[in-house]
Amino acid sequence: MTGAEPAALTIRDLSVRFAGSPEPAVRNVSFTVGRGEVLGVAGESGSGKSSIALAALGLLPPDAEVTGSIRLGDQELVGLRGRRLRAIRGRRIAMIFQESVSALHPMRRVGDQIVRVIRAHLPGDRTEARTRAAGALRDVRLDPDRVLDSYPHQLSGGMCQRVMIAMALSCGADVVLADEPTTALDVSLQKEILVLIRELVAARGLSAVFISHDLGVLGDVSDRVMVLYRGEVKEVGAVDAMLSRPRHPYSQALLDCVPRLGGDRLRTFPEITAERPGDWTGGGCNYAARCDRAADDCREHPELRTVEESLVRCRHPLGGTTVATGADRAEVCR
Ligand SMILES: Nc1ncnc2c1ncn2[C@@H]1O[C@H](COP(=O)(O)OP(=O)(O)OP(=O)(O)O)[C@@H](O)[C@H]1O
Ligand code: SF4
Ligand SMILES: [Mg+2]
Repeated sequence: MTGAEPAALTIRDLSVRFAGSPEPAVRNVSFTVGRGEVLGVAGESGSGKSSIALAALGLLPPDAEVTGSIRLGDQELVGLRGRRLRAIRGRRIAMIFQESVSALHPMRRVGDQIVRVIRAHLPGDRTEARTRAAGALRDVRLDPDRVLDSYPHQLSGGMCQRVMIAMALSCGADVVLADEPTTALDVSLQKEILVLIRELVAARGLSAVFISHDLGVLGDVSDRVMVLYRGEVKEVGAVDAMLSRPRHPYSQALLDCVPRLGGDRLRTFPEITAERPGDWTGGGCNYAARCDRAADDCREHPELRTVEESLVRCRHPLGGTTVATGADRAEVCR
């Protein structure tokens, strides 16, 4: 993203709390995604990745409390309801879900399902919608003559995932939120889908948020990566820096969980242990109970700071020199 270009998606101080939940699922999260950029979002199960995406699409349960701002260009999405929300969802921002096979109706032809989505969002008759559906399938390298009249069970898992991508993009959305879209696929199909997403981003100038618990997958598709832990941003940085020089102990732990070529994972995920300092939810770092670098000063809540090329929420980051705090946050968060 160039400095002059406005962000396609701008999220500021987003918090989400589910009714009856003791702690927020998302805590003051801020980030932007530029045009033609893929932001990878990493974090273990329950870290709040999907909650961010669902908040952006207005798909959280009605009793979930959402505060902060989610802007699509100039349009604020938080608080948008009904017809005004539906006019944006699908047409300007869309989501690709993980379970492509189960997300498709098993008893309806694929073409009919894409046509339904197109006609729900765009003017035009059935013939026009079918032509558009064929184009969307071609965009994801599927042959419309074969796929339009097929049922989902007649397609492979990889083809179904391509259909879901075609459906998501069929109404012209230029911001796409992909929530673990390759997790259910085997490794070679995963690679194909990642390459396809990169091609679509480049060809159509899409902006994408790509969610995965796997930093290895994010390394293949992202320009920048944001690491979440218990709803909080722990680190944001360019993908190369993130994969070669992670600064937050949690980013390093996630990276150590990525399987290596010709060997096992370096380790399994660090457990919470009694020897480590407590869980300082009273305001301190919420990673402390798992962190082998925790020290007394971590009882004070760490702010995001610039550590060389990354933005890191840690009082004792790995390597690097802390150069700034708060004021430059928006700049680095771009
Ligand atoms: N509808 C809901 N009602 C109550 N709590 C919820 C709901 N959805 C999510 N949560 C909670 O919010 C937190 C964040 O969940 P979220 O699904 O956003 O995490 P995630 O990072 O996407 O996890 P996963 O990798 O398992 O998909 C978790 O503690 C989860 O239990
Ligand atoms: S602030 Fe302290 S406890 Fe938290 S991740 Fe950094 S070193 Fe560990
Ligand atoms: Mg999720």
